[in-house]
Amino acid sequence: MTDKYAEPSNYIDRYAVVGNPISHSKSPLIHEAFAKQTNQNISYEHKLAPLDGFEATVRDLIAQGYKGANVTVPFKFEAYNLCDALDSNAISAQAVNTLLFKNNRIEGRNTDGVGLRRDIEQNLGIEIAGKNILILGAGGAAYGVLNSLVGAARIMIANRTLVKALELIRGIQDCEASRFDELDMPYNIIINATSTGLTGEALPLPDVIFNKENCLAYDMMYGRETPFMKQARENGAQVADGLGMLVEQAAEAFYIWREVRPETLSVIQLIRNLPKS
Ligand code: ATR
Repeated sequence: MTDKYAEPSNYIDRYAVVGNPISHSKSPLIHEAFAKQTNQNISYEHKLAPLDGFEATVRDLIAQGYKGANVTVPFKFEAYNLCDALDSNAISAQAVNTLLFKNNRIEGRNTDGVGLRRDIEQNLGIEIAGKNILILGAGGAAYGVLNSLVGAARIMIANRTLVKALELIRGIQDCEASRFDELDMPYNIIINATSTGLTGEALPLPDVIFNKENCLAYDMMYGRETPFMKQARENGAQVADGLGMLVEQAAEAFYIWREVRPETLSVIQLIRNLPKS
């Protein structure tokens, strides 16, 4: 955002994204584009919270009159515990990525699942309903999106540590758990929710998981082709990274705060075309 927006003001509604590290976050650019497009007079900044100072940072934002904040790594779970009220997505994710400061209360939402579903269905044009879905990973990213996949015919969670996958599916219908090397059937939609996109490590995935007729391989990371995306491409799958999800989860947060739904495709293009940092 411009310096003008960063100044305290009586007439601009202020928001921020809180994380550690945070300077790499594209959220200010995304929300600036949404605000311009919808004529909303807001500011949106990066806010670095010390690793042991998330709550103090949020309380400080509230004291300064901010209207809300996004929360990113590593504070989504702490944000969940800090909230006075939670929506059903936040409860099932056990994590919060969007805070609303209202009537002296902190309300917590989780827009990651909505963002993923909207990117797959609206931007990529692929229905979730009736599909066989495979989620790779059983950490925070998998928790964040699992309940957004309602309507799928069947969901398999595969994880390096089987017990964590079993824990994630506990009490959920039509959901199974597996180790990677025990996967033995093809899927229509495969979502990489492991953190290997960050480290570049390959997952031990058998080629049979990529349905030869129709398969979307979706990596929640963005910025470069991960080993998962490469293997999927080589097996004929349609491949997508998580940039659309990033913009769509932001659009949902913007809607929660402003009650205006921004157009997203141009913003996805804008971020896609930024010079690599
Ligand atoms: P996040 O909250 O970002 O999802 P997390 O809770 O640490 O992070 O979860 C990371 C996920 O990536 C987990 O499913 C993890 O597998 P384990 O549960 O077995 O730890 C998975 N993961 C990370 N590195 C991996 C690797 N090298 N191979 C396979 N899975 C990996």
